[in-house]
Amino acid sequence: MLDDPQQSDAIGVSMHHDDLPEELRDYFDSSPVALSLGKASGDHALLLTNRRFRDLTGYATSEIVGRNCRFLQGESRNEDAREKIHSFLAEDRIANVRTPIVNFRKDGSPFVNLLYMSKLRTQSGEVRYIFASQFDVSRTQADLLEEYDADLGRALNHISPVLAESGLVVEGSLMTIANSAATIAQAKLTLNELDRGSFL
Ligand SMILES: Cc1cc2nc3c(=O)[nH]c(=O)nc-3n(C[C@H](O)[C@H](O)[C@H](O)COP(=O)(O)O)c2cc1C
Repeated sequence: MLDDPQQSDAIGVSMHHDDLPEELRDYFDSSPVALSLGKASGDHALLLTNRRFRDLTGYATSEIVGRNCRFLQGESRNEDAREKIHSFLAEDRIANVRTPIVNFRKDGSPFVNLLYMSKLRTQSGEVRYIFASQFDVSRTQADLLEEYDADLGRALNHISPVLAESGLVVEGSLMTIANSAATIAQAKLTLNELDRGSFL
C-alpha cells in the first residue's frame, strides 16, 4: 500500500502534539519495556514509540511515525501470527492478542518479537488507538520473560488511570504465557532456522 507522506505527516504531527495525553507520552519515555501506540483506523499508522522500542529495534520514533509497523517483518511471512493479529484487529469482541512474530532490527539482525496488542476505547465504545508492547523472546531466559511480563503488567496498570483522564479505556488484562520456558525454546528454534537462511 502506498503511503501519502503528507497525510502521514499530518496524522503524526497532529496526534503527537494535540490529541495524545501528555502524561501518556511521559510514561512511554520512562517505561522499562518497549511500547508503541498506533491508530485504530486506516492502516494503523504508528503514532508513538518509546526509548525501549528504539533500543530493541534500532528505529527512533521520528523515523517511523506514520508508518505501519509491519515493516519490521522484512521478508518473513509470519502467516500464523498475522492471522491472529488480523482477527484481533477485525473483531470487536477480541480485546487483546499475544503472539511471537519474526522481526528484523534496523541493522538487519532477526529476532523473535513477542508482540502484545490491546485496544484503547473511548467511553462511547469506539476503538481509538491500538496499544502494543514488544519483547525479544529469542535471546532471553524464562526469568527475564517473567520479569518482562511483570513490567508490562505494571505499564498497563499505570496507563489505565492516565488514559481514563482522557476518557480512554484499556481493554483486556495481560495474558501471561502458560509455559514461558517452552515459548522461549520455540523462539530460539525459529531464530536458528532463520539464521540458517530459511524464512518462515
Ligand atoms: C501499535 C502497533 C504496533 C505493532 N507492532 C508490531 C511489531 O512490533 N512487529 C510486527 O511485526 N508487527 C507489529 N504490528 C502489527 C502490524 O502492524 C500489522 O498489523 C500486522 O503485520 C498484520 O497486518 P498485515 O498482514 O497487513 O501486515 C503492530 C501494529 C500496531 C497497530
